[in-house]
Amino acid sequence: MKQIIDVKMTARNVDFSECKTDVLVVGIFSDAKKLDSLNAQLDKKLAGAIGRLIKLGDFKGAEKTSAIVYGNEKIGARRVLLVGLGEKDKATLDTIRKATAHAAKKSVEIKAKTVALALHNAFGRRFDLSAVGRASGEGAYFGSYQYDEYVTESQNGRLDSLKVELIEPDPGKLRELKKGLAVGSIIGRAQSYARTLTNRPGNVIYPATLAAAAKEAARGSKRLSCTVFDKKQMTAKGMGGVLAVGSGSQHEPRFIILKYNPANIRAANKLPVVALVGKAITFDSGGISIKPAANMEEMKLDKTGGIAVISTLKAAAELELPVRLYGLIPSAENLPGGSSYRPGDIINTFSGKTVEVQNTDAEGRMILCDALAYAVKQKCDVIIDIATLTGACMVALGTYKAGLMGNDNELIKQIQKASEDSGEKVWPMPSDDEYAEEMRSKIADLKNIGSKWGGACTAAAFLRQFVGDAKWAHLDIAGMDMFQNPTEYSAVGSSGFGVRLLTTYLMNLINNK
Ligand code: BES
Ligand code: MN
Ligand code: ZN
Repeated sequence: MKQIIDVKMTARNVDFSECKTDVLVVGIFSDAKKLDSLNAQLDKKLAGAIGRLIKLGDFKGAEKTSAIVYGNEKIGARRVLLVGLGEKDKATLDTIRKATAHAAKKSVEIKAKTVALALHNAFGRRFDLSAVGRASGEGAYFGSYQYDEYVTESQNGRLDSLKVELIEPDPGKLRELKKGLAVGSIIGRAQSYARTLTNRPGNVIYPATLAAAAKEAARGSKRLSCTVFDKKQMTAKGMGGVLAVGSGSQHEPRFIILKYNPANIRAANKLPVVALVGKAITFDSGGISIKPAANMEEMKLDKTGGIAVISTLKAAAELELPVRLYGLIPSAENLPGGSSYRPGDIINTFSGKTVEVQNTDAEGRMILCDALAYAVKQKCDVIIDIATLTGACMVALGTYKAGLMGNDNELIKQIQKASEDSGEKVWPMPSDDEYAEEMRSKIADLKNIGSKWGGACTAAAFLRQFVGDAKWAHLDIAGMDMFQNPTEYSAVGSSGFGVRLLTTYLMNLINNK
């Protein structure tokens, strides 16, 4: 099987024009009246080629656009890639992340072996340099990502690795940039790992193989441990929700527990114990309440939340974050069959609460409720769950922002801040008592669907019944799990959404932001 592109990242003190590389990447603002001094120097050596390109109107510096100018004997680079940064005042760190991703994607497309990133220089000292390094690292991984491990036909010689250098003419800036780049590379790699695991289909990734992947991830760090409950153990523990959803499949369900115990216990003691809970339905056919055939293949991505959690714990361990973490990933395959759970069934869940099933396609909440109750039992102070939970959330927010619900304003604000910092967008939505009322059953404690309206909010209100007194937030990422088509800065398929958001939340927690 083909390997995923291996990105190697470094930072180096070198002059733009002297840098030997296949692609030198520079940034241009759409509202700049003239080239900044570094770009102007480069343009001079290129005999004004950049200036002419801009003057002709072939490149305007708009976001999501780029243009290539070919190098000459006066510069070290074979090509100069101009990347649009949009309006100068509107630019954020996410502009750097996305522009870098765009450049990395273009570089892979033209089969470059080496890329020199200089676009951050357009910002001078406007942003914290380590944050710039981090965004660049994250962006380079994101943009160069491709999923082709099952394509056996010729890839037209796609390269196995890409060498990316962050180049910086000012040696005084290098240290901070490097620091950030190291962090960004860890997060970027974790996100690419998440995308590959998620892109793998349901015949390859099912609960047992997902559990094996989590174990493998834990083997990479002595601070990370992984315990997996199989069907028998879940039965003994009374995890009726996960068992019910998994009952129709030949692939039995699993309950995956990752635990991260940092070396720096003193620092961790000052912080809450955080549980990250992720939905991992390895394929969601809807079960007996079966889904229509159109686009059903996309439901292999219904494990995105769980994989975001595995990947975040992996990143947290590599970053040696001083915070105690649980990663709880209930995993099942939702299929119709002779042993499937059915509408009308009443399920005893791990919390002790009973749930009347009215729709087997509302399975995410059935597995999450067991994991949330498990987090409460472990006395976690903060619980954040992440799930491709409802089509209704997609109807409400489209494919641009994830729904954010919760029971604690401070936690909501922290996640909003992490969202701004990471570029993975969220939008607040309610989940209070009115919504919870819709989830009451006449013959059990709860039922698993509400009325026709507000489906994302009623689903969240259902989950809220299982978090006890913990501070809880819920991320509904149904619209965020994938790109249906390639974009200017991403390949088609899994987006790896959540890895940057959750890692950033944890890092901010440590830095008191
Ligand atoms: N996994 C789906 C939600 C989903 C839909 C994710 C589209 C990504 C894209 C979830 O399990 C589901 O089927 N939800 C139902 C709930 C309904 C039966 C109350 C839905 O949204 O239709
Ligand atoms: Mn479903
Ligand atoms: Zn689902």
